Amino acid sequence: MQVPFADLTSQYKNLKPEIDLAIDSVLDSGNFIGGEPVRLFEKNFAALCSAKYCIGLGNGTDGLFLALKAFDVDPGDEVITPAWSWISTSEVITLAGAKPVFADVDATYYSVSASEIEKKITNRTKVIIVVHLYGQVADTKHIRQICDEKKIKLIEDCSQAHLSEENGLVAGVIGDCGVFSFYPTKNLGAYGDAGCVITNKEELAIKIRRLANHGGLSKDEHLIEGFNSRPRYNTGGHLKCKTSSFIYLDKKTN
Ligand SMILES: Cc1ncc(COP(=O)(O)O)c(C=O)c1O
Repeated sequence: MQVPFADLTSQYKNLKPEIDLAIDSVLDSGNFIGGEPVRLFEKNFAALCSAKYCIGLGNGTDGLFLALKAFDVDPGDEVITPAWSWISTSEVITLAGAKPVFADVDATYYSVSASEIEKKITNRTKVIIVVHLYGQVADTKHIRQICDEKKIKLIEDCSQAHLSEENGLVAGVIGDCGVFSFYPTKNLGAYGDAGCVITNKEELAIKIRRLANHGGLSKDEHLIEGFNSRPRYNTGGHLKCKTSSFIYLDKKTN
């Protein structure tokens, strides 16, 4: 007997009336990018994670890349990342022109330890990306201390750890920012690609929002050169939310 890894169709069928209604309302509005549903999702997801800011994006890979760009990662810089992760984590470092430096992972938890990271730090290390794989949070508290001492930025890749906790803190708020993927099979899956960055730092939140929208916060404003990673129309299941429009279905959380 074959057991499917994920059965997204039955999940949809369980929520079909609510989801169809929400999709219809977006189609009726004619507003297919951003808008009120995205704003609501960002507000509610930030609150769930105890973060001040959430920036909805096209996918999680963009979140990692835009965070690196927001930290001005350039050629010549080194970024430490786990040797065991999904390819996005190192891909974005190379794409930003920097050098990925791999730290070994713990054989039990599959995440990097503070001591393995320390071995890899040089005077070129600009950012450390920790990845909370399989819902298990890395030793972020100690890694944060190292980053503070050495003035290194810390990105938490929470793409597999929505709402995971370490010592009462939800993954994503211990580092300078946390990045999430809402790929359909994730714990919080969209109907299509989607992602976000959460942070408590206002300046960083604004910069990532700009970078994701051709350098501007409003129409025809392009203060810097950026990219297009605006959220589109997708639907998430477990939290009953929709992304890209990121439409929230759960009225209680609105
Ligand atoms: C650990 C990790 N990082 C990043 C990503 C990239 O997310 P996305 O597919 O939304 O770009 C994933 C998705 O599989 C992931 O598992």
